Amino acid sequence: MALKWWQTAVFYQIYPRSFADGNGDGVGDFRGMTEKLPYLRDLGVDALWLSPHFPSPNWDCGYDISDYCGVAPEYGRLSDFEVFLNEAHHHGLKVILDLVLNHTSDEHAWFFESKSSRNNPKADWYVWQDVPPNNWQSCFDGEAWTYVPERGQYYYHYFMRQQPDLNWHNPQVVDAMWKAARFWLDMGVDGYRLDAVGTIFEDPHLTPHDVPMSLAELRNASDLAQTPEQKEVVQKYWHDMFQHQLGQPGVHDLMKQLRAILDEYPGDRMLVGEDDDPDYMGNGQDELQLVFNFPLMRTELDPLSYQGKTFTPGWIRENQAQRLAALGKISSEAWPCNTLGNHDCSRVYTRFGDGIHDAERARLGLATMLTLKGTPFLYNGEEIGMTDSLIGDATLLRDTMATWYYERLVNDLHVPAPQAAERAGKMSRDKNRTPMQWTGGPNAGFSPAAVPTWLPVDPNHADGVNVKDQLGDPLSLFSFYKRMLHLRRSTPALIDGNYQVVHQEASDYLAFVRQNEHQTVLVVLSFSKERIRLDFSDVPEVLAAGKASIQPVAPGLHARTIFSSAGRSKTVENLSEIHLGAFEIYIATLEG
Ligand code: NOJ
Repeated sequence: MALKWWQTAVFYQIYPRSFADGNGDGVGDFRGMTEKLPYLRDLGVDALWLSPHFPSPNWDCGYDISDYCGVAPEYGRLSDFEVFLNEAHHHGLKVILDLVLNHTSDEHAWFFESKSSRNNPKADWYVWQDVPPNNWQSCFDGEAWTYVPERGQYYYHYFMRQQPDLNWHNPQVVDAMWKAARFWLDMGVDGYRLDAVGTIFEDPHLTPHDVPMSLAELRNASDLAQTPEQKEVVQKYWHDMFQHQLGQPGVHDLMKQLRAILDEYPGDRMLVGEDDDPDYMGNGQDELQLVFNFPLMRTELDPLSYQGKTFTPGWIRENQAQRLAALGKISSEAWPCNTLGNHDCSRVYTRFGDGIHDAERARLGLATMLTLKGTPFLYNGEEIGMTDSLIGDATLLRDTMATWYYERLVNDLHVPAPQAAERAGKMSRDKNRTPMQWTGGPNAGFSPAAVPTWLPVDPNHADGVNVKDQLGDPLSLFSFYKRMLHLRRSTPALIDGNYQVVHQEASDYLAFVRQNEHQTVLVVLSFSKERIRLDFSDVPEVLAAGKASIQPVAPGLHARTIFSSAGRSKTVENLSEIHLGAFEIYIATLEG
């Protein structure tokens, strides 16, 4: 089967506000993004996902959209977008946009009209109630129901109160949003990342939650949870608090409608959902092409996720087994999608680092993404090892979810201000959204010297965490990204090959084979701090026994090295004795 472009591509997420500032005002923009297209092509990615670029009052950094068919003035004009899109295509890069379906900004014309009276033509475009019908919370800022004096009613919002939920039961809303989706598809965009698909509908019975605390108290309890028991309780509370507001029926119909629209266009336009539930892929042909493997991304995002899973060979194997089994139930062609980071979570370099082997573990992260089966999504700045950049001064926070939390900590929970600021800074998503570090010079070359950037630039740009210094250094993380991206591109089995685990029980390395009709590739990722000696002479047997094996593999194979993160003197290794350096990434084709 010939794969589609979105199956072979490596995606790179651009956070427009922080990627490249073309006009020197401290904020990223389309001119900057266009100038950096050769950089992205040179890096070796194939497709770009842009976080929202639409006009927005920025209560949620662009995820509160006030015009679905425009460009935020700080990013440029529509014509700047068109230049960017055409140039990206010219460089062989696909572009997908972020489509926020669940809510608009409270400054969208639709909401202004809807809130103006109870009987205007858009009166029913949002979710209105005479009184708050339950104790639902917004996951960002407390009560989920906000009063509007003009109507004498309350509207529902899953996110900030500046992000009212649309009423997707109203066919006019559906039509209006699909019209907006067509606007950009007509212009030539290659698809959408769909924001927060699980939040589109709510429980029609409006069942209250039964968690005995407020959102602020729950966040506070999560911060303070130490023991596994405490972590388990808070995790259960998070689930219980929002269970009636998430994953409700109805979304599948919408996804089918949207998919049908995309399929009207030439060029295999695609949809990737911000959700980890493969159900949103429908029958494999009629809903989303991809959903993210978030369980793997949330690894080490303690204390809230996945019982404190850590990035180990055992957990990666378990995760892959679960994901591939779930996808297999949909169709043999359902395609995985892996990512380790985005604008909502702590940066890979920080999260997977242990303070000593941070660079090695960042390399392992990338190698895992590029060698597992599926479409990888990378996040801007990862390629130079950008770290979480903690903001300790609450007045500098731009993530309103964090400022809300800071205020609650200080005013309601009486936490001393300096401590509250530190905790809000840690939970804030600002830490992983700081400006891209292009050089070691002033403002990291993001904006001209002395121009205040929208978030502070991390001082580590002056210590080598920047593109310029790493470009020419063959040992840099950037060079490693480039080499690995090149390897993936030139090794078809890493893209279309099946995935077979070898040495299922190994605790200090992850080994698997990717095999297509022409190539058998052995991938070994060492998580060990020591040198290890491995015996893979059983691989032909393991492959022969595996149901998924495509080619018969003759005994007496040897390994021809095609990639190693360590210097290797030999290009051919005997399978019965392969020595790996600490944290080495070793990739070889198996040959007779
Ligand atoms: C998910 C986005 O990734 C996040 O940044 C945003 O705050 C929420 N959805 C609300 O749109």
